Amino acid sequence: MEAMIREAPGLFVPVLPTLWPSMLAKRREPSGFYPFAAASVRYFYFARNAVWTAVRMLGLAGGEVLVPAYHHGVEVEALLDAGAAVRFYRVGPRWEVDLEDVGRLIGPRTRALYLTHYAGFPGPAAEMKALAERHGLFLFEDCALSLLSADGDRPLGSTGEVGIFCLYKTLPVPNGGALVVNGRRGYALPEPPPPPWASTVSHALSSLLSNLELRGGTLGRAVRLLVRALGRRTAESTRLERVATGTAHFDRAHVDLGMSQLARRIALAQDFRFIVESRRRNYFFLMGRLRDLSPPVHNQLPPGVCPLFYPLVVERKAELLARLRMKGVEAIDFWSRFHPACEAARFPEVAALRRTVVEVPCHQDLDSETMARLALVVREALLASRPRSLAEGKRR
Ligand SMILES: Cc1ncc(COP(=O)(O)O)c(C=O)c1O
Repeated sequence: MEAMIREAPGLFVPVLPTLWPSMLAKRREPSGFYPFAAASVRYFYFARNAVWTAVRMLGLAGGEVLVPAYHHGVEVEALLDAGAAVRFYRVGPRWEVDLEDVGRLIGPRTRALYLTHYAGFPGPAAEMKALAERHGLFLFEDCALSLLSADGDRPLGSTGEVGIFCLYKTLPVPNGGALVVNGRRGYALPEPPPPPWASTVSHALSSLLSNLELRGGTLGRAVRLLVRALGRRTAESTRLERVATGTAHFDRAHVDLGMSQLARRIALAQDFRFIVESRRRNYFFLMGRLRDLSPPVHNQLPPGVCPLFYPLVVERKAELLARLRMKGVEAIDFWSRFHPACEAARFPEVAALRRTVVEVPCHQDLDSETMARLALVVREALLASRPRSLAEGKRR
């Protein structure tokens, strides 16, 4: 419905990269990128299953895990469901981990430290690892938002005892998460069973339709809306099981689901180097066009980073999001809620991030022409949704 009330036909910036039909037939030589190159990699339907499995595998049930106060929430749910207790540590206004706070919180029940790499930007993995080793703890590296990203030439997810990845946020796959075990200990993990075929097909089809709209403009959009409506009706009448990805909550019923063969095939056929380069180019472009109005959370792009999105900072988030969606931009309200176990009042900087960060796409499907239009639309939306005092100040 939202798509139908857009004012500016022609621009469509999907939040996720889309599936190009040619990708269904492609094959590629194995690449050196993590997690695909890791001997211990295990694939799951999504990353939350890897979090849950890692807690059980490492025997952390009953113990405590120190978790960042800036979190999605579903990873916290997976930790709790697997039997771990959680305590939250401070994260600063630039997504920086407060290592002193982590050190202070380590107590007799603590068994693991949980480090999240935000949107491809590396957290302090080496420092957290040293801290963990000093106290005999495990380090979890959550790379759900950081696939293909590195700190210089060190792949994210390769330092902790385990690395956790979400594949479908960065690649056009219908499902996929991964768990990598880096420690010297070996663990025997069963291969999870494949998901229902209808789920894989429906996600893949939806991504193909987004691709059609991306390339086909108004006609592509009409076809997408029509097929979506028909698909929904068919799914309702035949009760096909569709396991949604990108949802906010952990569901134990899906914890054993693996990644589909189709998703694995599409993932391994991707040109990872091209993806990293495109995302970096698009991030730089947005920075150049937008930072005079509002600097992003990260005002630079260190070597190795594969940005998941451009973290725009805005005062009037809801208003800006509405404006962008009206113009065909699928921007996202990034992480506005704390998990209920986290005492929000203790973390004012995180509360400010939750109030102000918007996820603007910068993925590999967006060519330079689309990026130029996107930057223009975001600039206009930023100017229009600035607090009145600021706008008047400028005019004077
Ligand atoms: C930090 C973090 N960890 C884990 C997850 C879980 O990822 P998935 O949706 O693949 O289960 C998410 C999801 O957004 C996340 O943001």
